[in-house]
Amino acid sequence: MAVAAVIGAQWGDEGKGKIVDFLAGKADVVVRFNGGDNAGHTVMFGGKKFKMHALPSGCFHEKKQVVVGAGCAVNPKTLLEELGMLAKAGIRPNLLIDARAHVVLPYHLALDGAQEALKGSGAVGTTRRGIGPCYADKAARIGLRFADLLDKGRLEAKVRALHEIKAKELGKVYGAEFAQSEAQVFSELSGQADRLAGFVCDAILSVNESISKGKNVLLEGAQGSLLGIDSGFYPYCTSSNPTSGGASTGAGIAPSKITEVVGVLKAYVSRVGEGPLPTELPDGVGEAIRDKGNEFGTTTGRPRRIGWLDLPCLRQASEINGFTSLAFTRLDTLGGIPGLRICSAYKLGGKTLHRPPASSEALSDCKPVCEEIAGWEDLSPGEWRAVAGKGVGALPAQARAYVERVSSDLGVPASIVSVGPGREDTIIIKDVFAQ
Ligand code: GDP
Ligand code: IMO
Ligand code: MG
Repeated sequence: MAVAAVIGAQWGDEGKGKIVDFLAGKADVVVRFNGGDNAGHTVMFGGKKFKMHALPSGCFHEKKQVVVGAGCAVNPKTLLEELGMLAKAGIRPNLLIDARAHVVLPYHLALDGAQEALKGSGAVGTTRRGIGPCYADKAARIGLRFADLLDKGRLEAKVRALHEIKAKELGKVYGAEFAQSEAQVFSELSGQADRLAGFVCDAILSVNESISKGKNVLLEGAQGSLLGIDSGFYPYCTSSNPTSGGASTGAGIAPSKITEVVGVLKAYVSRVGEGPLPTELPDGVGEAIRDKGNEFGTTTGRPRRIGWLDLPCLRQASEINGFTSLAFTRLDTLGGIPGLRICSAYKLGGKTLHRPPASSEALSDCKPVCEEIAGWEDLSPGEWRAVAGKGVGALPAQARAYVERVSSDLGVPASIVSVGPGREDTIIIKDVFAQ
């Protein structure tokens, strides 16, 4: 039995979807534990690209149980569309949705847009999927949960109460009109409830039963540690905990049951939305990496901001999450990039910092201290796949040194090295399910 959590170690888009799809081959159950359709996890399957927003990336392995956990904020429309997209590809996931998961409602989408507009230059640059407002209602204890979709009388009463508050909030605070009537919101939700009710259950109970039976469980995080509401750089963050602690609360599993915490990191950093990014490369190099890696948001299509690998931030992510191993992605993308650098510290007010400061404001003032690193050659996708087939010893020596440099700095061994988007482009160094 093993319970492995897959956690983004940076600002999201590290390649969690690819790693989860790969590891799901050995798992019995895959649980998404946080976030909603602000996430975009890409999985290559059968030569096609699937962009997963609401469902776990374990769907591409037949018969695996996939779970949308209690810690998620789910837009039922997105979930149904995703089920439809998979059905077209002949995939019918064995899905459970925890009754405790919160429902993203049309009010949340409207509020996300209105709040961002009001913030003007102070906007967070959210994905505008209503995630922040949904979690705000959860914390205020007025949210709607999947359990509420199972009882039409309760659903109607809850929509009535929410409509009163939210339509007022939108109009009076933000001067925005909410176009849908209470009856329209209820009717849409009622139709979605009819289609989803069969999946809703006490998934915490079910996942813990699986653990008791000795099954392998994979916990899939959305976003990344540096975007966490507590672990990230407030307010330029998301509204949930994309950490191993969040995996425990969001999947309903005791921390002591998690046997492996895999930190997924790409060989450089990217960020979508606003907020400080100390190693950001505004010049041609950033553009070259963005173009080579096709670094555009999976959910919003926005160009991702690119920077050199940031060790101070990674050290903090590693400590907060207790990474037991690292999954490196996109070593191939850095191939042939000239003047490769790695940030090993920051300078702030005459001091050298080895960890990031606690505030976004202070992080904005940090100047990265970068070391030049020997680069490696640009191979074709086919050549990288051949390297993956041969194993870690076949990696270009400088790429291997890069992995070793980061692993030894963090004091965490590499379990996986990824050199392309497909399952076959993956090198396994350690089996995270082996006990
Ligand atoms: P996630 O949100 O962490 O799941 O990451 P995204 O799916 O948003 O973005 C990662 C992108 O990189 C996707 O297009 C993946 O197919 C791709 N990808 C993942 N690993 C690798 C890799 O090692 N090399 C390359 N070239 N692409 C990768
Ligand atoms: P995956 O799971 C990258 C960013 C948004 C914004 C901030 C808050 O694909 O790694 P939100 O909509 O959550 O209120 O936006 O967080 N963000 C992500 N960036 N990958 C993601 O998910 C993200 N989910 C949210 O761009 O800066
Ligand atoms: Mg993504």
